[in-house]
Amino acid sequence: MHDDETASRELIRLMTGPWVARSVAAAVRLGVIDHLEGGPRPAPELAEALGLDPDRLGRLLRLLAAVGVVRRSPDGHTLTATGERLRRDHPSGLRDLALLYDSDLFTRAWEHLPEAVRSGRTGVDLAHGTDVFSLLEADPHEAARYAAGMAAGARFVRDLPGVYDFTGARTVVDLGGGSGELLAAVLDHAPGARGVLVERPPALVAARHRLAAHVEAGRCDLVEGDFLATAPEGGDVYVLCRVLHNWSDAEAGRILRHCRRAMAPDGRVLVVERVLPDAHDPWLSLVFDVHMMVMTTGAERTERQYEELLRGAGLTTDRILDLPLEMRVLVARPVGP
Ligand SMILES: C[S@@+](CC[C@H](N)C(=O)[O-])C[C@H]1O[C@@H](n2cnc3c(N)ncnc32)[C@H](O)[C@@H]1O
Repeated sequence: MHDDETASRELIRLMTGPWVARSVAAAVRLGVIDHLEGGPRPAPELAEALGLDPDRLGRLLRLLAAVGVVRRSPDGHTLTATGERLRRDHPSGLRDLALLYDSDLFTRAWEHLPEAVRSGRTGVDLAHGTDVFSLLEADPHEAARYAAGMAAGARFVRDLPGVYDFTGARTVVDLGGGSGELLAAVLDHAPGARGVLVERPPALVAARHRLAAHVEAGRCDLVEGDFLATAPEGGDVYVLCRVLHNWSDAEAGRILRHCRRAMAPDGRVLVVERVLPDAHDPWLSLVFDVHMMVMTTGAERTERQYEELLRGAGLTTDRILDLPLEMRVLVARPVGP
């Protein structure tokens, strides 16, 4: 292929990325994905079952086959391993993430990226006139969709107890613990530990459900709180998973100082984030960094930037552990008095 054409095709591939994402989300919304779970189905039969235009559904499926979400066989279309992950009952929960990324909350905020870069305001503020967490507090439907998406995006936390040993922990405090995926994984692996999850009211709905057994067993407290104002005293492990990246340096520093003040002297703070390596640019982390500027006042930070934040709060990095999907765990201990 001529060089000029290769470059043009690559650019067009990048620019049409949102159309592909929308096609994937449309297949989820229309029930196409769930209807393919039992095996191959011809497009006309699928169209009839779902009340869709057969020609248009055929064209949508053709694109989804080209990008690897479905596979064409003589009997119709089936889901590929990628497409399987969009099924309602798939343990990855990625269907919820597809719906969240395609939601008005996210897509309208992204429309304001140029103005966000120009002005330093967030896309959410420009599109919706408020910050994301106030918006979620005012809209239970949006909050439920956000919580489901976050829970889906949090499946990597199941690997956390495999890389960090919680078995000696007495009290694990998960600040902004969302739907409770992480705390559930920790409590399952550390039978001697108690958990405290601090959240805003909308997220507590999902956490109550996810952690019901642990709450009933008296091993877990769910606390309505504000990590910008305080942190519960006396924990020996404080977890901040995908929290600091939502906040500016000033606010992130405040959250860390609350942890430092509240923690046991031999305690640890675990910062779970897509910590950017200095040496290379992992695209997934960089996409989320721009997403952070659209959604929040925060950012994905480098190791050095996190170390600076930690130092400002009287903490320092002990070690760094790796999790799937470019997530990393900064294990921090107190320094000084
Ligand atoms: C990106 S989510 C991460 C949730 C969870 N830690 C995870 O990784 O799945 C950030 C969480 O911070 C919570 N949050 C926002 N502001 C808060 C505040 N002031 N105090 C406590 N939680 C807050 C939100 O409700 C949301 O669930």
